[in-house]
Amino acid sequence: MNKTILSFCILLTAFANVKNDLFISPPDWPKPAYEFSKNPMTIEKVFLGRVLFYDPILSRDHTISCASCHSQYTAFAHVDHALSHGIDNKIGMRNAPVLFNLAWQQNFMWDGAINHLDNQSLAPISNPLEMDETMQHLTSKLRQSSIYPSLFYHAFGDSSISKEQTLMAISQFMLSIVSSDARYDSMIRHQVSFTSQEENGYRLFKQHCSTCHTEPLFTNQQFENNGLIPDSILRDYGRMKVTMLPSDSLKFKVPTLRNIEFSYPYMHDGRFKRLSEVLTHYTTEIQHGKTLSKQLNTPILLSSNEKVDLTAFLLTLTDRHFLFNTDYSYPKEVLLPSPKESK
Ligand code: HEC
Ligand code: HEC
Repeated sequence: MNKTILSFCILLTAFANVKNDLFISPPDWPKPAYEFSKNPMTIEKVFLGRVLFYDPILSRDHTISCASCHSQYTAFAHVDHALSHGIDNKIGMRNAPVLFNLAWQQNFMWDGAINHLDNQSLAPISNPLEMDETMQHLTSKLRQSSIYPSLFYHAFGDSSISKEQTLMAISQFMLSIVSSDARYDSMIRHQVSFTSQEENGYRLFKQHCSTCHTEPLFTNQQFENNGLIPDSILRDYGRMKVTMLPSDSLKFKVPTLRNIEFSYPYMHDGRFKRLSEVLTHYTTEIQHGKTLSKQLNTPILLSSNEKVDLTAFLLTLTDRHFLFNTDYSYPKEVLLPSPKESK
């Protein structure tokens, strides 16, 4: 091939890889925190990440996949589990959070122990209570498998299968999961109008909740103490575990409230099963301690009608397009051993 044509082709391929058309940020949303230039999104990498996410090969005994604890129909939280269950039925320390809109997130885990999405997957893979596998052993299992060498080749142009490639691919799948199409979003885009009940709930939400659960992501990405009584057995002091600062005691990452209808049980330890219990907490059970966030110093007073209205608003954050989007679901096109449901 002529030298000029050859370099033109290389340039084209490079350009195709750098383009980031795959990730579309909704208009008026903040800039994503993830640096896509360091891990440019491609269809092949997202697909590889999706297969890995659903494959129990990631665990020592091939029983647990990421999806065992993060299932799509509960917005990628753990179906009805207060504390997550992992390998050998071991019980974890915390409630599995939802996984979507992670491209905007700066800190991961309830206490922010991880500050880069590419490092996140290492934690569950190596955690003896979750998947209990080493990256070295995992990559060697992937190299010997009948499907991965070719999936990695298509994604990265070589089939050597490194630890970094594995983690970057899983990140890409997680980055591709966006929830921005709830009834609330249609209202913001003036495509539907709220009922008077939802409207009133939205007003109450802005009055009492939105300094922490800030629109459009429904989190201010900060660590706050929302007045929960610490569990005497778990003794989880949240952010303080990471910073060692007493001023961070009992502070946890403010979770998004999108898809809250499906992501129960609630809070870092899954202590509440219903939204009504959450509202009872905010109105009558706030524990006043040194680190309580100042917004909660004055009691939140809500009549029972107002609680119903506020709940109606919270239900407008359910995004069925996201919950049933087959781009995020089990990759049937690639044969995998069926993941054992963890109990
Ligand atoms: C045994 C259950 C379990 C498995 C398996 C599991 N996770 Fe998790 N995941 C959790 C729990 C529990 C947390 C919260 C832990 C904490 O805050 O200390 C979490 C947190 C996360 C977070 C942080 C989300 C946030 O908003 O902070 C991401 C991302 C994540 N998991 C992705 C994955 C991926 C990818 C896999 C597979 C490689 C995986 N998880 C496997 C239970 C699990
Ligand atoms: C001072 C900040 C702050 C305010 C104000 C606040 N929250 Fe929260 N919220 C948090 C934090 C932090 C958590 C996680 C706490 C934990 O798990 O330890 C949380 C958790 C939740 C959860 C559980 C989410 C999940 O995925 O588990 C719901 C639901 C919720 N809040 C609703 C509300 C509502 C409704 C209001 C207004 C009445 C409100 N919050 C006001 C900080 C706040």
